[in-house]
Amino acid sequence: MNAVRECAYEIIEAADIFNPANPELGRLPDGRECHSTRLVVMDETVEKIFGEKIRAYFELTGISVEYLTLPGGDDHKTIEQVLRVVSRLTEIGTDRVGTPPIVIGGGVVQDVVGLAASLYRRGIPYIRVPTTLLGQIDGSVSAKTGVNYEGCRNRLGTFAPPPRTLIDPALLATLPVRQVRSGLGEALKMALIKDPELFGILEQHGSRLVADRLQDPGARADGERPGATVIRRAITGMAEELQKNLWETELRRIVDYGHTFSPIVEMSALPELYHGEAVAMDCVFSAVLAARRGTLPMMQLTRIVATVNRIGLAPSHPMFGDVPTMLRALADTMRHRDGHQHLTLLRGIGETEFVNDVTDEEVAGAARVMAVLARDPHACVSELCATTPTTGAPPLVGAVR
Ligand SMILES: NC(=O)c1ccc[n+]([C@@H]2O[C@H](COP(=O)([O-])OP(=O)(O)OC[C@H]3O[C@@H](n4cnc5c(N)ncnc54)[C@H](O)[C@@H]3O)[C@@H](O)[C@H]2O)c1
Ligand SMILES: [Zn+2]
Repeated sequence: MNAVRECAYEIIEAADIFNPANPELGRLPDGRECHSTRLVVMDETVEKIFGEKIRAYFELTGISVEYLTLPGGDDHKTIEQVLRVVSRLTEIGTDRVGTPPIVIGGGVVQDVVGLAASLYRRGIPYIRVPTTLLGQIDGSVSAKTGVNYEGCRNRLGTFAPPPRTLIDPALLATLPVRQVRSGLGEALKMALIKDPELFGILEQHGSRLVADRLQDPGARADGERPGATVIRRAITGMAEELQKNLWETELRRIVDYGHTFSPIVEMSALPELYHGEAVAMDCVFSAVLAARRGTLPMMQLTRIVATVNRIGLAPSHPMFGDVPTMLRALADTMRHRDGHQHLTLLRGIGETEFVNDVTDEEVAGAARVMAVLARDPHACVSELCATTPTTGAPPLVGAVR
């Protein structure tokens, strides 16, 4: 027997999404019509900010819905939250195809509801409305759902892409700047692995993008809209990569850049570090590794660290400077890659290679550079790379500037 399952899903830009004149939020996949009640799951903060508008939308459009509110934040990405969603779906009597739930919130509630939908009745469709930058440029394209379990990130999860994802960049206007920066960490990853033009925008407009929450207020006379361009290029880049390998049967994935050393740090530091913050640090760690190997030009490493700083992200954290933690992180990620490093390293900004021969000494050397960057984010990274030995004490902060 050989059965093939086709998978198609849409990511649609839907401006002014909570305006009842815009039919996108209520629309079902495949032009179906819905005659019974649907579940709308909202993130707690989203409910506070947009709850009234969302309720008015469904009242005015005459779509019958029930609500569930869930907390955001990675410490709430748990199996218990998934079961809460499942119970609510059962209570409402959600059908298999005709009443897909809608999830409105950040990456955490998206992952929780996605997992619940993929388990309920062995899998039902659902609709995603991401409301964070990270959710819009990364989670929105992904086919994956998941929750953290027993201290491991996304240890329980499924592949279950929703048929429709709706993107309204205006929803980002209410995000705290720290969340915007975290989202830009994923945009930076995409820029580094395949999009030098996107990197140029982050390098040039990093701090303004954060201050404006990517809203491009008073679009400039030259028509330049860096915020909109970042969102579009990051989504397109991610979609191009995932389409080739949606089910991850190939474990060498350049989109895993920034996700090799970060998972352990993120889980150990929870809730201190946001996902995109840890990803940006991992991007720097991996760039330091490549620069010390001589494959990434030092000048480009310097630009990467400067851009991270310009966005307002920290290039490092003490845990990235801890050699045993970094070695454990690599070993754990290798288990996720069937025993291989399959490490994406940069040959330049926008150019990558896979390597499997990074030694413990190289990891230790990069960690020592990161230890200094954690204390002094503006230390001269190229000099640090040139002068930091793989063993012994790291140089004193301020010794290299
Ligand atoms: N499935 C995937 O492939 C995939 C991809 C990327 C990220 N993720 C997951 O996403 C999670 C991180 O997502 P996140 O950064 O969106 O975190 P999050 O969902 O915790 O949201 C961050 C915070 O922003 C608040 N919030 C949400 N929308 C808001 C808005 N419009 N205005 C103001 N506040 C708002 C939330 O309440 C929360 O406190 C991680 O668990 C990560 O693993 C999954
Ligand atoms: Zn990520």
